[in-house]
Amino acid sequence: SFPIVVLISGSGSNLQALIDQSLQGVLNVTISAVISNKADAYGLERAKEAGIPTHVLNHKSYGSREEFDTALQSTIDRYHPKLVVLAGFMRILTEDFTRHYEGRMLNIHPSLLPKFKGLNTHQRVIDAKETEHGVSVHFVSAELDAGAVVVQARTPVEPSDNAKTLAERVHKLEHIIYPLAVKWFSEERLTHQDKYAFLDGQKLPVNGLD
Ligand code: GAR
Repeated sequence: SFPIVVLISGSGSNLQALIDQSLQGVLNVTISAVISNKADAYGLERAKEAGIPTHVLNHKSYGSREEFDTALQSTIDRYHPKLVVLAGFMRILTEDFTRHYEGRMLNIHPSLLPKFKGLNTHQRVIDAKETEHGVSVHFVSAELDAGAVVVQARTPVEPSDNAKTLAERVHKLEHIIYPLAVKWFSEERLTHQDKYAFLDGQKLPVNGLD
C-alpha cells in the first residue's frame, strides 16, 4: 500500500499512533522506514517491535546542515515514500531539503499555529496566560513552522495547568489528528498547492505565513 517514511528524535508516541492505526487497518499505509537523528530515541524500539527498518543518522557526524540533509534525503529516497512524516523530529531543515519534499512532507507542532512557533510551546502558552492551546499538523515549508495548516485540535488552558499537564493533553490530541491527516493524504483527499493545503478540493484557511 501507500509507502511512508517517519522521522523521529525522541519517544515516538506519534509514530506509535501511526503504527497502531495501520495495524488496525484504519490507516492504509506502509511505514517503510523510521529514521532518527538520535541513537537513543525510544521510537527506534517501537519501530523494531513493529518490524520496521530503522536508520540512525547522527547530525553531529556531519560537517554542516547541508551535508546532514543530503544524507538524510538519500536515506529517505531509497524507500520511495509518497509521504514523509516528521514526528517529533527536532532538526531545522535546509531550504533545499524542504523544497525536495514540497507538498509531500507533514509535521506536527504542539501549538495552535501561527501562534507559538519554535520550542517550549507549553510553557510559553502558560507564561502568555493563553486560555486555549492545542496542536497543528501542517505541510512543511522552508520557513520554520509556517507551512499550510492541515488540521488543528484545541484544549482549554485551566488555571491549575502546568507545562506537563498541558503537554499530556496535547499529546492525546496529537495521536488523534496526526493519523487522520496521514489518512487523508494517503487517500489523496489532502493536497498542497501554491503554499496552501486543500481537503476534498476545499482550500484550508490557515497558512503560517499569514
Ligand atoms: C510532539 O509533542 C510533537 O508535537 C513535538 O515533539 C513531540 C514528539 O513526541 N514536535 C515538535 O515540537 C516539533 N517542533 P513523540 O516523540 O512522542 O511523538
